[in-house]
Amino acid sequence: MKYEATAAYRRFPLSAKYDLDWMLESAMGPNPLWLAEFLSEEMSLRPGMRVLDLGCGKAATSIFLAKEFGVEVWAADLWIDAASNERRVADAGLADRIHPVHCEAHSLPFEKDFFDAVVSLDAYHYFGTSETYIGNLVNYVKPGGEIGFVVPGLATEFEGDPPEHLRDFWVWDFWTFHSPEWWRRHLDRSTKVTVRTADRLEEGWRYWMEWNALDVELKGGSDEEGRMLEIDAGRNLGFTRCIATRADPPGNG
Ligand SMILES: C[S@@+](CC[C@H](N)C(=O)[O-])C[C@H]1O[C@@H](n2cnc3c(N)ncnc32)[C@H](O)[C@@H]1O
Repeated sequence: MKYEATAAYRRFPLSAKYDLDWMLESAMGPNPLWLAEFLSEEMSLRPGMRVLDLGCGKAATSIFLAKEFGVEVWAADLWIDAASNERRVADAGLADRIHPVHCEAHSLPFEKDFFDAVVSLDAYHYFGTSETYIGNLVNYVKPGGEIGFVVPGLATEFEGDPPEHLRDFWVWDFWTFHSPEWWRRHLDRSTKVTVRTADRLEEGWRYWMEWNALDVELKGGSDEEGRMLEIDAGRNLGFTRCIATRADPPGNG
């Protein structure tokens, strides 16, 4: 498959400027640049803003956001050490504008009210499904600041087991995949934030499948996930985007 011939190449023009091998090497799942580009279409990112990229992995999205929007980024991650991200950031010529940090999302080493915005790509579902999480995270954003994420998700919640065609593929941590309406309710009822966008990436499953095909073709490995996406054909699986604004004052004590 040729990258330039994919639907994703046309859908994500900012990401299309980046080298495919670099993206494949930097990604830890579905292409995070595409997810960041989708998120940025609804978030207000302006030059000089302080942005926390939470669960940044290998910092590809931090590099993308710094380059495309002129923001200053704190690239925070647990599994990837800060030194290797510092190398990647320096290679991109952005050492003065991206600050890699090794940390746990539940004990962030930042001052309260420090960030203008928090973004998270393919990571928030690892730590953010607990009811208490947003009440902690919101303290690090300035009043009125935005928290936005894109995660693998569902069109609607399952009642009981996954549909028949997904059962053989389903693994326990897919239960962190949720619909836009689930995320809206999950965050809104905290009263700490107001959700202003909760939606899906149209044709997201197709871009995800294209990415897996490119990854398998160029790096090898199994395409089990690609088969699952093809069989499901967007009926359930895709990407959920959610953007919430810090309520001021945050409700509920
Ligand atoms: C699937 S990877 C995605 C990484 C990157 N955003 C990307 O799309 O390539 C999920 C990331 O979430 C991070 N993560 C998971 N749990 C975390 C936690 N409790 N605190 C901080 N980061 C966490 C992991 O370190 C990992 O890099």
